[in-house]
Formats: sequence, C-alpha cells, structure tokens
Amino acid sequence: MLNNFQCTVYKEESAFQEDVIALFLCRECVQAIDKLNLSEEVKKLVKEYTAKYDDIYDAGSVRSMGYWDGSKIVQLLFVGCGKGKECKPVNFKKAAGAAARQLQKIKGRQVSLCAPILLNKARGHYLAAIAEGIYLGAYSYDEFKNKKAKQEPCSVKIHTSVEDAEKILERSEIIAEAVCFARDLDNRPANCLNPQIFADVAVEMGRKFNLEVEVLDEALLQAKGMNSILAVGQGSGKGVRMIVLKYNGGGDAPYTAYVGKGITFDSGGISIKPSENMGEMKDDMSGAGAVLAAVKAIARLGLSVNILGILACAENMPGCNAQRPGDIVRAANGKTIEVINTDAEGRMVLADAVWYGCRLGAKKIIDIATLTGAVIIALGNETAGIIANDDDLAEKIKQAGKLCGENYWQLPSLPECREALKSSCADLVNSAGRAGGCITGGLFIEEFVDEGIPWVHLDIGGTSTAQKTDGFKVQGCTGFGVMTLIKFAENGE
Ligand code: BES
Ligand code: MN
Ligand code: ZN
Repeated sequence: MLNNFQCTVYKEESAFQEDVIALFLCRECVQAIDKLNLSEEVKKLVKEYTAKYDDIYDAGSVRSMGYWDGSKIVQLLFVGCGKGKECKPVNFKKAAGAAARQLQKIKGRQVSLCAPILLNKARGHYLAAIAEGIYLGAYSYDEFKNKKAKQEPCSVKIHTSVEDAEKILERSEIIAEAVCFARDLDNRPANCLNPQIFADVAVEMGRKFNLEVEVLDEALLQAKGMNSILAVGQGSGKGVRMIVLKYNGGGDAPYTAYVGKGITFDSGGISIKPSENMGEMKDDMSGAGAVLAAVKAIARLGLSVNILGILACAENMPGCNAQRPGDIVRAANGKTIEVINTDAEGRMVLADAVWYGCRLGAKKIIDIATLTGAVIIALGNETAGIIANDDDLAEKIKQAGKLCGENYWQLPSLPECREALKSSCADLVNSAGRAGGCITGGLFIEEFVDEGIPWVHLDIGGTSTAQKTDGFKVQGCTGFGVMTLIKFAENGE
C-alpha cells in the first residue's frame, strides 16, 4: 500500500466486485480490445467512444462515465496512452498518474485495470510504468496537515499476462516509495529538516536496511580539511554534516559514488536572495534527497552493485559567522577558492564531497544538485543538465533517465569555459557570472574530482519542483533523479 493505493495482479479465480473499470488505451493497442475479458456492453461502449472522440488517446486524458452492468452502476475510465509511435511506457506512466487522481476524485475502491498491451507477456515495462504512475500520481504532501485528505484505500487489480507480474509490481512499489520518500524530504520545511536532522534520518534508514552509515560533524570535517563545506555552513546555527552511506551488494566490485547537494535552506548567505519565492529554497537539498532515496531502493531491491551515497549537508545563512564575499577558502584537495558570491554555495559543498568520494575509493562519481538557476534558462523545467568529463557515462545516465521518464541533456564543457573560473588571488572563483552558468558550475565541481575518475554532474535546478500537477508529477517537489539513479544501478553500473 502506498498513498492509499495497492496494485495487485488479477487472478480470475479470486472473487472481485469492481466499482470501476479503468481501460488504458492507445490508438494501436485498441485493435486488440476484443481480447480483453470485458462484457459485450463495455466493448460496445469502447467502440462507440473511440469512434466519437479523437482526443480519447491523448496521453494523460481521462474520461469517465457510468454504466449499468445489470446489477449496479460501474464507472468506466478511458485512460489515453498516446497515438502510435509515442506509446512508450513513459506515456502509460503519465496516464496512470492522471488516472490515479481521477480514481481519488470518484472515490474508486475496487478497480479493475485493463490494457490490451498487458496481454503481451513480454510487456513488463508497461506494467511497471502503470504501477509506478499510479503510486506517484496519487502522492500528496500532507505531513503538516491536521485535516489529511481523507482517502479510503483503493485496490487496483491489474489484468495481465505479463511474466513475473507479481515481482514487477513489488519492484514498482519499492521504486515509487523511494520517490515519495524523496518528495517528502524535499517538501519538508527547513525548520524541520536541517543537516543534523538529515543525518538522523539517514542513520535511521541505514539501521533499517543494514547499511553502513558514517556521519562527519564539524570536528571531523575540520580534521579532514573540508573547509569548503564548513565555510558554507558557518553562518548557520544548524551545523554541517557530511553523511556517507555504504551499500555493498556487488562483492569486490568498485564503488560508484552518488553525491548529493544537501543545502537544507539556501538564503543566499550574505549575497542574500530576493525575498520573493525564497521559501522554495527549502528544497535545495533535493540532490541529497535523491541520493538517500535511491540508496534506500537499491538496498531494498538487493541490487548487485556497490554504491556510496554521500550527502553534503549545510544551511546557507547570513549569520554573524557567515562567510563573506571576498573570503578565500582552502578545500580538502588543497585548491583555494575565492568566494565571489556566497549564493554559489552548492558547488562549494560538493567540492569537498566529491573529493571525499574519491578518498573512499569510488571509481565513478555522479553528483546531483539543484545547482543553478541558469539551467532553467538553458533547458527549462522538464530537462536536467549534464556536465561530464566522460561522455559514455553521461550517455548511460541519459539512457537510464529516458526509460523512467526523467529527461537529461548534456551541455558542452569546452576548455575555453574553464577560463572564467580563474581567480586573481586564488586558484578558483566560486562564481563565473551569468554566461553559461550551468556549465561553469559543473566545471567548478570537476576541479575536485581525482584525475582519471569518470564523473557526471546532474543539475536538477529546473526539474526538482513542478509548478503544476501533471502525469506522474504532483505540484511541489518531484523527487527528480531518484528513478534515474536506481535504473543506473539496475543496469549494473
Ligand atoms: N540553489 C540555487 C540554484 C537554484 C535557484 C535552483 C533557483 C533552483 C531555483 C543555487 O545555490 C544558486 O543560488 N545558484 C546561483 C549561482 C550564481 C550565484 C553563480 C544562481 O543560479 O543564481
Ligand atoms: Mn545559492
Ligand atoms: Zn543553492
């Protein structure tokens, strides 16, 4: 059960009185409608409706109507999944998200879910997409609501001949749970999630799933020379924490480090942000949230990989001990940073975190961060930016993302772009100005990755929040990146 939904495989032998029939249809697969175990009455309605409305296949459109089945009224939902070529699993996932919200609206309790595509035993991807979409679309953030939206549990029985359907549904629930876990953390306000609390959450999770967890506090960070992350957090009373989770499912194989930006609130520091929408910066830890959630799912799935999850947590505040523009800081790898702008803090916490990942022996580094507003200008809110020193690794992330409905685009990192990071009085500046801000932000982080280690930086500044509810996304924090990181691990990377 997740978000009051439970998807199960429909077994003909089990007695089941549905109050809703949800039909997932795309223009291609509707041809096979007669193969579904539906009454003649329903089949007739499908034919009537599909002939009448040509927008019925629009992905995510849901049409509902009631019909008399001889003993009671049954709601019929037509869920559009696309026309022809674009009928990828991702479209079914979006459609399922919209369907889940319609089911909440009409108070569906016993749903019979039918889709011609699920009669093909090799279409497991579609089954997973539908289940994930339902769980994710049903999400709402209500941790602090006294009056929770009262939802009765909804049981969705999926008619399918897909192989290992039960296993697929189990996996889907684990993945969706992880995304919702991230959404909860990301949506949580900064007075209720600071670096110390974040560490408590990670330790608790580690205990539950048998993961090694190491928490570095200020003293330990200082001992290791990680002055860059310390500088960011020094204006806050809420502490600084580097949290390391170790998942060993792959024997002696090398570790891949997932490194997340965990700024629990980004006021900008002394280079303070304008007050409008500043509250949105409670989600500036979405990178770290994605890492924690992905590690959780990877552990629950028992994947055969070795993963380090590193959360670089600090609060960026303009206190009397805050770092000042003009300060020069020595990061753990010895490089000095001239702080041009205290609002370019994400790269400073990640500088020490990627370095630490290398010290712990990671042979690949993937960092994920709400690093820049510039990525929104460059790519909008549907696509995350990639900066990488290794095109193959970047390609693998893009492919993993494509399969789960998370979009990425790699930006060029020309040597010329590095010029802008030069400082007159230190090794690097932390801010290279507006031009190509997403690129220079990534290139800054690269300076702290060991030579020869493949590294990919994911800038989720534009994709971590959704302005409106749509498909499997619900307005607010999206948990973007969680599914990509899990998929990447599933692919054995
Ligand atoms: N967390 C912000 C980036 C951000 C802003 C993400 C708005 C999503 C929405 C980051 O710490 C930041 O402030 N970046 C600055 C960098 C600049 C000072 C070089 C930015 O993008 O303006
Ligand atoms: Mn900032
Ligand atoms: Zn930030």
